[in-house]
Amino acid sequence: MALQEEIRRLLNKQKAILLAHNYQPPEIQDIADLCGDSLELSIKASQTGAEVIIFCGVHFMAETASILSPNKKVILPVLDAGCPMAKMITADDLKKKKSEMPDAVVVSYVNTTADVKAESDLCCTSANAIQVVNSIDPSANILMTPDKNLARYTQRHTKRRVFYWEGYCPIHDNLTVEKVLRVKEAYPEAVFLAHPECPPQVLDLADEVKSTSGMKEYVANSSKKEFIIGTETGIIHALSKANPDKLFIPADPNMVCNDMKKIGLKDILKALETLQPEVNVPEQIRLKAKTAVERMLAVPLK
Ligand code: 13P
Ligand code: SF4
Repeated sequence: MALQEEIRRLLNKQKAILLAHNYQPPEIQDIADLCGDSLELSIKASQTGAEVIIFCGVHFMAETASILSPNKKVILPVLDAGCPMAKMITADDLKKKKSEMPDAVVVSYVNTTADVKAESDLCCTSANAIQVVNSIDPSANILMTPDKNLARYTQRHTKRRVFYWEGYCPIHDNLTVEKVLRVKEAYPEAVFLAHPECPPQVLDLADEVKSTSGMKEYVANSSKKEFIIGTETGIIHALSKANPDKLFIPADPNMVCNDMKKIGLKDILKALETLQPEVNVPEQIRLKAKTAVERMLAVPLK
């Protein structure tokens, strides 16, 4: 508790804001100014008046904040907290693919490096991929990177000509039909919520496919009492806290993203004392990546 209070005091002193992803450890979620999905965190980063952003998440998220707010200090308390899926495509890989598909519109998931975003036409998140793809000329060939599962889900719901990179999230891609059926059998009344990074056969079993904050919103508005959660288990803290009368069952308790657990309270304290380690994006890359992110932010959600 003393550590959490000291962090809040330093956040005030440094005119800093603490943004945390929904998968962060409970003790970090509990002191964040905003706990959200990738889209919400991007929007907040672009709008905050704070001079410093302490980003508790993984590297691409802090980079996105820096792309949108170059005049703010963006701090990722543990610099090697990365997203294994984002590492599955490089800017050179994408340039090569683009030379094979010169007319394709490239839509990259925000779970990519700034270099990859800079080579993309638009970005998307799990909360807006369908709307982003629907905003593109219907006759266009679309290349989605790097998540094959999000791409196939988006293709199914837009009927557009979507080609995809063969990347995946090792945590979500590991969820199987067998595991889900076992949990469904144990909790036959439960609503199954799945993240679009899960494989298509798993998504076929879902009652709803949602981003992490989409799940929070769905649960808050539902009269149902039991939910099977098909995403990283860190979100269950936020769900249980906001809905103490409801039961949340992980689709698989092994769905833990180690990178999302690398930051601890002591790292945040040190980051606030030193205002390090900072995440910066070279200006040339930043401007190109910003165009792709801003095109995404301009797409209406409804
Ligand atoms: P959300 O944008 O749905 O929070 O997802 C981010 C992520 O990394 C999922 O694995
Ligand atoms: Fe990346 Fe998957 Fe971890 Fe999300 S859960 S940060 S997609 S590895």
